[in-house]
Amino acid sequence: MDRRQTWSRVLGSMLEPSLKHAILHQFSPPQSGTEPIHYADFGCAVGANTLGFAKFVVDALKTRPDVIDRDIVCHFADLPSNDFNTLFKQLPPFTGQGDGSVEERTWFADGVPGTQYGRMFPRSSLHVAITTLTLHYLSELPKSILDKSSPAYNKGKIGCYGSSPATAEAYAKVSRQGLRKFFECRAEEIVSGGVLGFYCPGRRDRAHPENQLFDDSYYVLDIEKTWKELVNEGVLTDESLDDFNLPLCHPSIDELQEAIEHPPSAFRIEKLDFIEKSSLADKPMEFDDAEAYGKFMAFMFGNMRPMLASHGLAPELTDKFEERYRQNCEKSYAVKKAAGFPMNMSMCVAVLIRK
Ligand SMILES: C[S@@+](CC[C@H](N)C(=O)[O-])C[C@H]1O[C@@H](n2cnc3c(N)ncnc32)[C@H](O)[C@@H]1O
Repeated sequence: MDRRQTWSRVLGSMLEPSLKHAILHQFSPPQSGTEPIHYADFGCAVGANTLGFAKFVVDALKTRPDVIDRDIVCHFADLPSNDFNTLFKQLPPFTGQGDGSVEERTWFADGVPGTQYGRMFPRSSLHVAITTLTLHYLSELPKSILDKSSPAYNKGKIGCYGSSPATAEAYAKVSRQGLRKFFECRAEEIVSGGVLGFYCPGRRDRAHPENQLFDDSYYVLDIEKTWKELVNEGVLTDESLDDFNLPLCHPSIDELQEAIEHPPSAFRIEKLDFIEKSSLADKPMEFDDAEAYGKFMAFMFGNMRPMLASHGLAPELTDKFEERYRQNCEKSYAVKKAAGFPMNMSMCVAVLIRK
């Protein structure tokens, strides 16, 4: 299990007890005893965490006598750019089809491409759904942040972290619109008595969205710093930096509540918690030396590569960028080590029941 997966499992444990409670005690399965149960993971990505959640939900469902004999279908939903083939290859063999070397799955699986800010499933077709670490992804970038004549123009920054208040508010507005759309669509798709669980990075309240409240913001800030360096050296243009913006904005707990309860308010909130500075790591981060730290951060940089590619950055420039970023991380090793490599992020966690 790599370190990112360990983080996700640490985060997963924030949701699992209340999700299980809702599946066991609040979920109402369909009346007909033969109808399959449909589970969906929105923004599933790939990897052990995705499959871990599917297994967790199936195991919880199968402890119910009124579900135990039913077929369960797990739908893995994400943007079309998600590497669904990798996910499919990671699926354990279906029951009776393996060679006995790994635990088999009893559930059916499929992949569903699309955006979660629109409909992805037929009306009243899902029984249990989750979305983890996705609700801070915007449905689109605010137009004003790319408009040079707007006070929200995001000059010299790659996101709303520490941006001007006008830029951050433009981000937050698109985030609120997206959240409302997300819960509207899920309300259509999830059956009455169905369960929706989620967690995402979040803020305590809606004031100052430019303060996104996470310790590892230096990850983004170091990328920004590297970009500025390469602009100053003439390797990249000013515009390349000004026109690139991460489509991320952490919603506040009250913004989430407002979106969930927006009329017709189709969900009952079983749990909606704000967890200040939750640790992403199960144990303190440790690296043998600066080189190992640089290598790890360069590995994490891999998340940025598709975004840089779609921004039009040539692969050789992206390689150069990654190499300089790695070097900058190596240089900052002593300072980061003295601070204990803080990896805390404030999170919002919720379990909702479709009314
Ligand atoms: C940080 S990953 C989280 C993956 C996984 N859920 C987890 O907890 O480890 C965010 C995922 O959200 C997906 N995503 C972002 N915007 C999306 C959208 N509009 N619709 C569906 N998925 C989206 C990304 O493609 C990515 O797979």
